[in-house]
Amino acid sequence: MTEPTPRPDAAASFAPPPPDPARAGRKDEHVRLAAGQQAAMAAGAGPRNDFDDVELVHHALDGVDPAGVDLGTDVGPWRWPLPVYVNGMTGGSVATGRLNRAIGIAARVTGVPVATGSVSAGLDDAGARATFTVMREENPDGFVMANLGADRTPDDAVRAVEMLRADALQVHLNAAQETVMPEGSRRFDTWARNVAAICAASPVPVVVKEVGAGLSGRTLARLAGLGVTVADVGGRGGTDFVGVENDRRPTRDLAYLRGWGQSAVVCLLDAPTGAPHLLASGGVRTPLDVVRALALGARAAGVAGRFLRVLLDDGEPPRDAAATDRAAARLVEEIEVWRDHLVALHGLLGAPTPADLVTTDVLLRGTVRETAALRGTD
Ligand code: FNR
Repeated sequence: MTEPTPRPDAAASFAPPPPDPARAGRKDEHVRLAAGQQAAMAAGAGPRNDFDDVELVHHALDGVDPAGVDLGTDVGPWRWPLPVYVNGMTGGSVATGRLNRAIGIAARVTGVPVATGSVSAGLDDAGARATFTVMREENPDGFVMANLGADRTPDDAVRAVEMLRADALQVHLNAAQETVMPEGSRRFDTWARNVAAICAASPVPVVVKEVGAGLSGRTLARLAGLGVTVADVGGRGGTDFVGVENDRRPTRDLAYLRGWGQSAVVCLLDAPTGAPHLLASGGVRTPLDVVRALALGARAAGVAGRFLRVLLDDGEPPRDAAATDRAAARLVEEIEVWRDHLVALHGLLGAPTPADLVTTDVLLRGTVRETAALRGTD
């Protein structure tokens, strides 16, 4: 394993003024509450999700030599070195800036593609900008996605890409989250038009993603029509942002919306012909879940909550430069384990590359099977 180079403290390099306290507080709360969900999921065997209902058929004589496995994957116009990426999470406060620094370091060492959290704060607030750009500074040549909401203007999209020297722009759709978020938007009717305008203006390709409620077949077809070439189905079953935002509501009265939406598995099965190239995320827990997503047609799988858990120390973000370097080293080690396991699983399944996994025989179980039958994809 290559050791990350020690760096000065992130906070020290964030020029004053400090990030806007209300927004920074929200970003810190998101991390705390998402980490709480991860801790609950890690307890015992952890809850099942729809990936457990995707069983890969074992063919005992089909294996290939792992030495010949190439994990490179084609995602739209790009070639990624492995079919895993760190999904958009954070930035906007000093503590989350340290997390972005750790992710940037891990990306430089492992070559894994990464995304920032929503850079809205960095566009609106000079104090917050460095908490995002640090991810690019640590990883000058890697694949970095800038993340932005679908309510932002095409001009904001261009600024976000320039700010990060981003290779792609992730535009998130999060209507369920906004609905539950105390300070959230309630207007989603402008999003489709906006996504088309952002695609037209963006100097780099746009990846549209959900944040955990899934992209239905109809949505994927509409996105293709809007000019989107890559979409991350971002389904339910992992970090639940409805739950996170409900916990931030003084009344906590929208708990019944927890689990809103569909899983990545169901969305992949529902994807129409002509859909954008697909990425899968939401509840990806292990390299086996990555392989299951690839078998269902995804080009790569995104991981947020699981990697956040690795970055935190006893549930807390790094407090200084040394702790940030330790967090980065833990994430490097984790990604290297995932890479080794992915190679082994490709060997076991007889797939020399991720693209070969689409021919894997798959048995669907439980509610996933019922859903697939309903949609005629059984
Ligand atoms: C997120 N996620 C997210 N997504 C996005 O598009 N913009 C954002 O700013 C954030 N912020 C954010 C903060 C934290 C702390 C977490 C854990 C996640 C959502 C993320 O990209 C992903 O869609 C969901 O977390 C589901 O994936 P996991 O966590 O189940 O792997």
